[in-house]
Amino acid sequence: MRVCETVATMRAECASLGYGGRRLGLVPTMGALHEGHLSLLRAARAQCDVVAASIFVNPTQFGPQEDLAKYPRPFARDSELLRAEGVDLLFAPSADEMYPTGAVTHVNVEGLSERLCGRSRPGHFRGVATVVSKLFHVVQPGVAFFGQKDAAQVAVIRAMVRDLLLPVEIVACPIVRESDGLALSSRNVYLSSEQRRQALALFRSLLRVQEAYEGGERDATRLLAAGVEEFSRETGVRLDFLEMVNPESLEPLEFAQPGALVAVAGFLGSTRLIDNVVLS
Ligand code: PAF
Repeated sequence: MRVCETVATMRAECASLGYGGRRLGLVPTMGALHEGHLSLLRAARAQCDVVAASIFVNPTQFGPQEDLAKYPRPFARDSELLRAEGVDLLFAPSADEMYPTGAVTHVNVEGLSERLCGRSRPGHFRGVATVVSKLFHVVQPGVAFFGQKDAAQVAVIRAMVRDLLLPVEIVACPIVRESDGLALSSRNVYLSSEQRRQALALFRSLLRVQEAYEGGERDATRLLAAGVEEFSRETGVRLDFLEMVNPESLEPLEFAQPGALVAVAGFLGSTRLIDNVVLS
């Protein structure tokens, strides 16, 4: 695995490895890799001739009171995991490399960036869209892989690719869960054992909505009320939002339908976790 720390070396390596019509897949990450990331790498390995991954804790997607400083950065361990998954190229730039002095250009996907997590984290999706578009420009992948756990991020990136005419296919890979249902997240390491137990309220609230839907309820207000009721049984968790939206536009739905995205976010102390299900 070749490790590149500068835009110039990564660009040159990608151009040479992707030469001759070879399909180049990119898995963008912020490191602190877990099985969810590994599932993206395995999908990329199965579908592409060349696999590139990036590790960059992107400062512009964190709010001023958020966890940028303490975000886990186990770089040596992450590199070993990437190597073991057969990754060909790792891009691990510094913040100065990605944001040259004086940088004032941002990518904002209007509307979508203010929905779901974007409402509670102003500027977050602008930071995500900006860094992902930079990664696409440097790597020029034919396909990029993202986790469905951040379904709003997937919607924002798909809209950006459409609007900026970027020739990149976006693949969303299924959520990977612990055996008790907790969605894997790099932020799960922040949880105490008590919070780890309480965090299951997120998945339970989604299951409750899904069960009510499968039982025939279609009114979104009633379905979400059932989920909120389930959530409120766990007093250690604070609900940020529980919403039912169109998975592409992220606009709220009045009535449930197949394909509707039910997304939840909640706080355990200062740790914010997200999860979702798609109604079938
Ligand atoms: O999902 C993430 O880890 C990040 O938001 C991403 C896509 C790597 C951009 O920094």
